[in-house]
Amino acid sequence: MLYAITRSPAANMANCLLTHMEREPINDARAREQHDAYRSLLAELGAEVMNLPASEEHPDAVFVEDNAFVTPEFAIIAPMGADNRRGEQDVVHDALAQFREIVVRLEDAARLEGGDIFMAGREIFVGLSTRSDERGLRALAEVAERHDYRVTAVHVTGCLHLSTGASCVAEGTILLNPDWVDARRFQHYRCIETPQDEPWAANALRIGELLVLPAECPKTADMLRAEGFIVHTTPISEFAKAEAGLTCMSIVFESGA
Ligand code: GLY
Repeated sequence: MLYAITRSPAANMANCLLTHMEREPINDARAREQHDAYRSLLAELGAEVMNLPASEEHPDAVFVEDNAFVTPEFAIIAPMGADNRRGEQDVVHDALAQFREIVVRLEDAARLEGGDIFMAGREIFVGLSTRSDERGLRALAEVAERHDYRVTAVHVTGCLHLSTGASCVAEGTILLNPDWVDARRFQHYRCIETPQDEPWAANALRIGELLVLPAECPKTADMLRAEGFIVHTTPISEFAKAEAGLTCMSIVFESGA
C-alpha cells in the first residue's frame, strides 16, 4: 500500500522563508486549488493521502517533505535547519509512527531537512546546503548504516535543497541541474540534465515507475517522455514562489518492510 502525507497550506504562506528568491505575491486561492489538484493526482496514482491540518505558526509547514525521511525500514524526523521551521515536525512524527516501528528524532544540535535527502536504491544522498550540515548527515548515517544504506554527501549551491537540483527518476538514473548540485557525486549513475531554461525541473516526484513534474516545466516532461518515462504534470506556480518544489509537498512511502 502506498501512502502520501501532505499538509494544507497556511493562510500566511506568503510569509514563508526565501533564500535564493525575491518575494512575489502568492495567490492564496490558487495555491489552495493547486494543493487540491496535487493531492487528487497522488490519489489517482494510487496513494492513500493523509492531509494534515495547516499550521498557522509555520508558513512553510506545507512543505512537509522537509520534516522527515522515510525508508522501508525506518523513518527519521529531521531536526530542521531553519530555526523558525522547528516544531513543524511533531504532527508528522505522530503520523509516521503509525507506519514505522523505528522512528528516530535526530538530535536538535544537528541541522538536517528532508528536502536535502533522497534515496537511489541502497544509497542515500544528503545535500550539504544552507539547511543541512555535516552533523545532520552523520546523525542520519548512524541510523541508515545500521540498515545497510550507504550515505553520500553532495554539495548544494544556488538552490535551497538537494532535491531542488536532483532526484532519482528510475533505478540507476538521476535527473539533475548541474549548476546547483555537484554532479560528480552521481558519476556512477546515468544522469539526465534539465534544460537550461527549466532549472527547477530536476525536482521530480517518483511514484513507482511514474513521474510527476511541475506543469511549469513542459520541455523536461517532453524530454523524459521521449526517453520512455510516463510523466504526469500538475501546476505548482504558487508554491514555487515560496521556493519549493513538487516533492516538498508530500512524503510518499510504501507500508513498512
Ligand atoms: N520556503 C521554503 C523554505 O525556505 O523552507
